[in-house]
Amino acid sequence: MGRVSNKVAVVTGGANGIGAATCERLSDEGATVVVADVDVDSARDLAARLGNGALARAHDVTSESGWARLMAEILGTFGRLDVLVNNAGIAFVADVVDTTLEQFRRVNAVSSEGTFLGCKYAIPVMHRGGGGSIVNVSSIASHMGYSQFCAYSAAKGAVRSMTKSIAIACQMRQYQIRCNSIHPGSIETAMTRIAEGRAAVASPVPDGVLPIGASGAPRDVANLVLFLASDESRFITGAEYVIDNGSMICQEVPLPA
Ligand code: NAI
Repeated sequence: MGRVSNKVAVVTGGANGIGAATCERLSDEGATVVVADVDVDSARDLAARLGNGALARAHDVTSESGWARLMAEILGTFGRLDVLVNNAGIAFVADVVDTTLEQFRRVNAVSSEGTFLGCKYAIPVMHRGGGGSIVNVSSIASHMGYSQFCAYSAAKGAVRSMTKSIAIACQMRQYQIRCNSIHPGSIETAMTRIAEGRAAVASPVPDGVLPIGASGAPRDVANLVLFLASDESRFITGAEYVIDNGSMICQEVPLPA
């Protein structure tokens, strides 16, 4: 038996990066995964490689009608939804003065509104199936002061605090649904490459304990999502998990090489 056997999971932004690694880990451990992404070609390629009847769906998390359609399809096909990973996000690099209102709204539409809509539409479906687990992908930007991530920090801060409201709302409704947020530091994906203005994604990330300041691998985050998706974490809701190899709390001056 896998750690999430017989569970049905939706992963938004599941076609690439952290989302793709999450789809792989959930599928390896027995879940049927729906890879939901605007990048439908990559989503289809990934779903074809996964086992357990994985599906790919073209899905824009900012579309309310898209969420209604996706959840109706999942209810019709599987009769249940056990896991939702609100992972889709976009980076945008600019400080407050250089960010336009349109740019601010776009970044917030994907991370903040996308997470809100995902929870709003998934919770009734999860409840009908007996309960489930929601994992919202925030960032250490929700805790820190990064001048160049104004819109991104706002969006991830909204995800962080919304998660706690949703966790308690599920408890007040006596739904068997948990909701937690995770807060990665730098992870080696296309998003980091763009945010840091690098030409290529550094791959593979080496094995073993990494030095402070190094980027983690998508699979490092996927392992945490797997735990929160599984029943192993049944007593955890409304919690926030920082996963950054200590970078957020480190106050030390870097040692000379
Ligand atoms: P990525 O750029 O590799 O993958 C993001 C995925 O989201 C892509 O497949 C993209 O097509 C999809 N996507 C974008 N807009 C969408 C929309 N409107 N609807 C559906 N799908 C959409 O990025 P990465 O690094 O894997 O990021 C995943 C999540 O992790 C994001 O929420 C990001 O903010 C968060 N994160 C990433 C960190 C990093 O260092 N890479 C650090 C902290 C948080």
